[in-house]
Amino acid sequence: MTKITISENYDPGSDYVLYNGDCLDMLSQVPSGSVRLVVTSPPYNLGKEYESKLLLNQYMEDQTRVITECSRVLADNGSICWQVGNYVENGEIIPLDILLYPVFSSLKMHLRNRIIWHFGHGLHASKRFSGRYEVILWFTKSNQYLFNLDSVRVPQKYPGKKHFKGPLKGELSGNPLGKNPADVWEIPNVKSNHIEKTNHPCQFPVELIERLVLAMTAEGDWVLDPFMGVGSTAIAALMHGRKAIGAEIMLEYVEIAIDRVHQAENGNLKIRPMDRSVYDPDAPSRNAPPQIVALGCNEESPTLFTETEG
Ligand SMILES: C[S@@+](CC[C@H](N)C(=O)[O-])C[C@H]1O[C@@H](n2cnc3c(N)ncnc32)[C@H](O)[C@@H]1O
Repeated sequence: MTKITISENYDPGSDYVLYNGDCLDMLSQVPSGSVRLVVTSPPYNLGKEYESKLLLNQYMEDQTRVITECSRVLADNGSICWQVGNYVENGEIIPLDILLYPVFSSLKMHLRNRIIWHFGHGLHASKRFSGRYEVILWFTKSNQYLFNLDSVRVPQKYPGKKHFKGPLKGELSGNPLGKNPADVWEIPNVKSNHIEKTNHPCQFPVELIERLVLAMTAEGDWVLDPFMGVGSTAIAALMHGRKAIGAEIMLEYVEIAIDRVHQAENGNLKIRPMDRSVYDPDAPSRNAPPQIVALGCNEESPTLFTETEG
């Protein structure tokens, strides 16, 4: 069991900083260039219990202030992953990633992927097709950035497939470590029957953030979530030996976030494992049991990549 040191304000010696208040106040404590990954799902301005619905331009001004501060605290070789869905007004959808892209580009950030997170459950629309995906905008601060693809490869569709002609005849045609997960991710969202469900209405599945943490950070790095909710980002970071920092305005969610860490310290936090396939009613035996998380583990050190295709 690893004991996690938690503080309420920025402390470079802590494993986990969780500020109960406005994210801009937390961000003002964080030194420039000190964070390797910012990953978050901000409020979508839908009037959920934790937000008051703002005029869209006011919402955009608020988001711009937070994104600008996140860019300041980000290391030159770091990444920002901003996960968003749609703002809805009078039945019309406004994709927030379209509105937010200019904010990141005005800060000279570079878009690496627009990841589609596809999930199976949600509201049933009657006047349009039901929405079943959201988006993660992955930006880097520079062209030198950490990207450790090998740590997040997924099984090849045909793992034993070999070249059948040419100079490589007889050799495996795919990477034996697995294939690139690509930019469309099928990961169940956290609805009522999900093993990770808490009282929060829209928490991240931990496996979604694990993939980003493993690919974009090294052990000991800071991972920051300005809108921490019930701390799913922190669980994903701490599970893999990273440090977590974030803010949450609702005390109820802060308390759940802390409780989840204590459960993980005691080795009894249940999460859905990253390598589990999506539920298949025709093959229930493929649906592996939940993973019981204990904090602190090692991976090989990631390497720094410059942009290459492939
Ligand atoms: C979409 S939820 C994020 C949920 C989170 N990803 C999780 O897994 O629990 C957004 C969260 O931001 C919080 N929030 C809203 N405005 C905030 C602010 N100005 N500073 C800090 N937290 C804020 C809300 O209370 C809410 O829990």
